[in-house]
This record gives sequence, C-alpha cells and structure tokens, in this order.
Amino acid sequence: MNFIFHPSMNTIARASIIGAVLFVAGLSGALIYFVRSPIMTNVGVAVQQPVPFSHLHHVRQVGLDCQYCHTSVEDSSFANVPPTETCMTCHSQIWTEAPMLEPVRQSFQNETPIEWNRVHNLSDFVFFNHSAHINNGVGCETCHGQVDNMPLTWKANTLQMEWCLACHRNPAQYVRPRDQITTMGYQLPDGQDQLTVGTQLVAEYGIEVGRLDDCSICHR
Ligand code: HEC
Ligand code: HEC
Ligand code: HEC
Ligand code: HEC
Ligand code: HEC
Repeated sequence: MNFIFHPSMNTIARASIIGAVLFVAGLSGALIYFVRSPIMTNVGVAVQQPVPFSHLHHVRQVGLDCQYCHTSVEDSSFANVPPTETCMTCHSQIWTEAPMLEPVRQSFQNETPIEWNRVHNLSDFVFFNHSAHINNGVGCETCHGQVDNMPLTWKANTLQMEWCLACHRNPAQYVRPRDQITTMGYQLPDGQDQLTVGTQLVAEYGIEVGRLDDCSICHR
C-alpha cells in the first residue's frame, strides 16, 4: 500500500470542497434573499403609532381626500403629516371623550406635535421629490398602495432602487390622468388600456423617459 490516503479520499475531498462552495453560495443567496425579504424591507408590516390613526376610517368612511391632510405633496419634495390642528377641526366636535384621542388633545393643549413613527424612510444618499411625481401623473396609490384599506399604515412597496428604476425605465405602465392622482382603486374607463393611455400621457406631460435612469437623478 503506497497510498497514505485511500484513493476514495480524493473523491471525498473533492465532494467536500464542492460541498463547501455550494454551502457558501447558498448562504450568500439566503442573505440576499433575506435583505430583500419583507422582514428586512418591512413591506406589509403595520407601524404602531402613538394614536391609532386609521386611513381606512378617514379616507374610505369619512371620505377625506389625501390633500386635506397631506397639503404639501403637490408643491414640495416632502409630503407633510398634518399638524394636530387639522385633527382638532373635527375632534374638538366629535369623539371628544374618546380615550383613544387623549394624546391628540394633550398635543393640542401643550402645543407639542404628536411624534408619528415613520413608515417610509429612504437613505440620505437618495434624492426623492413628491411634486415631480404628482405633477406628472404618478398616483399616490402606485407607490403607497391602497392606503384607504389600512387601519394602521404600512409600506406597500420596497422603495429599493430596482423598484424605482422599473418605473423610471417605462413610466407609461403607470402614469394616469393628473386629476386622478389621489383616487384609490383607480381603474381606466372601459375599453382603454394602460399602455396606450400611458404612452399618450407621457408625451402630453413631457416626461423625458431616456434620462430617468441616470444615476444623478436620484444620487446628487
Ligand atoms: C385626516 C388626515 C389624513 C388623510 C385624509 C390622509 N392621511 Fe395619510 N397620514 C395621516 C397621518 C396622521 C399620518 C401619520 C400616521 C401614519 O403613518 O398612519 C399619515 C401617514 C401617511 C403615510 C405614511 C407616511 C410615512 O411615515 O412614511 C402615507 C404614505 C400616507 N399617509 C398617504 C396618504 C394617502 C395616499 C392619502 C389619501 C388616500 C392619505 N394619506 C390621507 C393623515 C391623513
Ligand atoms: C373631517 C373630520 C376629521 C378629521 C380632520 C379627523 N378625523 Fe378622526 N375621526 C373622524 C370621524 C368621523 C371618526 C369616527 C369614524 C368612525 O368610527 O366611523 C374619527 C375617528 C377617529 C379615531 C377613532 C376611530 C378609529 O379607530 O379610527 C381616531 C383615533 C382618530 N379619528 C384620529 C384622528 C387624527 C389623529 C386626526 C388628525 C391627523 C383625525 N382623526 C382627523 C373625523 C375626522
Ligand atoms: C413615485 C412614488 C410616490 C408617489 C407617487 C407618492 N409617494 Fe409618498 N413617498 C414616496 C417615498 C419614496 C417616500 C419616502 C421619502 C423619504 O423617505 O425621503 C414617501 C413618503 C411619504 C410621506 C411621508 C413624508 C415624506 O415626505 O417623507 C407621506 C405623508 C406621503 N409619502 C404621502 C403621499 C401622498 C399623499 C401621495 C399622493 C398625493 C404620495 N405620497 C405619492 C413615494 C411616493
Ligand atoms: C410609478 C413610477 C415611478 C416610480 C415608482 C418612481 N418614479 Fe421617480 N419619476 C417618475 C416620473 C414619471 C417622473 C417625472 C419625470 C419628469 O419630470 O420628466 C419622476 C421623477 C423623479 C425625480 C425628479 C427628476 C427631475 O429632476 O425632474 C426624482 C428625483 C425621482 N423621480 C426619484 C425617484 C425615486 C428615488 C424613486 C424610488 C424611491 C422613484 N422616483 C420612483 C416615475 C416614478
Ligand atoms: C430612480 C432613482 C435611482 C436611480 C436613477 C439610481 N438609483 Fe441607486 N438607489 C436608489 C434607491 C432608492 C436606493 C436604495 C436606498 C435605500 O435603501 O434606502 C439606491 C441605492 C444605491 C446604492 C447602495 C446599494 C444598494 O443597492 O442599496 C448604490 C451603490 C447605488 N444606488 C448606485 C447607483 C448607480 C451607480 C446608479 C446609476 C447607474 C443609480 N444608483 C441610479 C435610487 C436610484
């Protein structure tokens, strides 16, 4: 016997190297999957708030438009969350005793804003602008989902780069008439299809599709 190792050991060694490589590959695959999974991106996870504010109640049932509260979306890069005064225009008259609304009354009396927890928060190295989207026919719903179904607010989309780019490369898939921006559950009139209408609107609104995936649009 000249072999220190039995020849079958070669096979075993090779098999374990391949095994190790596959294991590492599998692990990084799992990591990438994990980073993009709802656990990490928080998609669909309702965010707890100091007051259980419900869009379902206020939008679907009371019938308020988004811009009644988010007044700056059309003119500014930032969509404001309403000040307590906005809540008190109604809640100084109705549900004035509700314990659930105690933090709202406190905030009003003490003139300290309610500290809402953020649902969406892009990294600082990404530039975003609400008005650029609102004024070019991208509906709230396209990015935020059907907010009027949400008893507590959650994130409907990842807001990761690929998600932004999927639209920036072909906005005709999503663009709708400007007067339908805040409509929830928007549907095209019968007999129209999104790509035809979208393509017309992209031309009409002067959306410059070719440049929208330049890095400098979002990283300035
Ligand atoms: C009565 C006022 C009111 C109306 C009307 C309203 N919102 Fe809100 N919205 C709020 C408040 C208060 C918050 C902060 C608490 C929360 O996140 O639920 C909020 C939060 C949000 C957020 C999450 C912000 C974040 O932290 O990232 C989005 C998105 C949003 N609203 C979209 C909409 C859309 C779209 C509509 C119309 C369909 C709408 N809202 C109508 C009051 C309102
Ligand atoms: C235009 C009037 C109006 C405004 C403005 C308004 N609400 Fe309300 N809110 C109502 C009505 C009506 C109800 C009762 C809804 C129901 O249960 O049918 C209600 C119910 C509630 C409730 C208890 C029921 C629930 O679970 O949703 C909370 C909490 C609440 N509002 C918080 C707020 C906050 C916070 C604001 C400000 C960001 C606000 N509301 C602004 C009309 C208003
Ligand atoms: C093109 C996608 C897109 C559209 C359309 C859009 N949003 Fe947003 N919204 C975002 C992103 C992305 C953020 C997170 C911004 C950040 O973290 O800097 C955000 C954040 C918000 C916030 C939290 C405050 C802020 O500005 O960070 C509110 C409130 C909000 N959006 C409401 C609305 C409403 C109301 C509409 C429709 C009138 C709307 N959004 C349309 C993508 C969109
Ligand atoms: C559903 C479609 C859609 C999504 C999703 C979307 N965008 Fe846009 N975006 C547009 C359209 C349409 C314009 C308007 C382009 C124009 O002015 O010609 C625009 C414009 C912009 C502009 C302004 C460009 C300029 O200088 O005029 C920025 C910045 C931007 N988007 C960033 C983002 C970021 C960051 C995200 C993801 C978090 C995102 N967008 C997601 C459709 C979208
Ligand atoms: C339409 C907007 C948009 C454009 C265009 C864009 N990015 Fe991004 N980028 C984003 C967003 C959104 C994120 C994620 C930020 C976060 O996770 O909060 C991101 C993240 C990144 C990151 C961090 C790593 C990661 O994947 O999260 C790098 C690096 C990057 N972008 C490079 C680029 C380069 C290079 C280009 C041009 C080829 C580019 N981006 C074009 C929106 C954009």
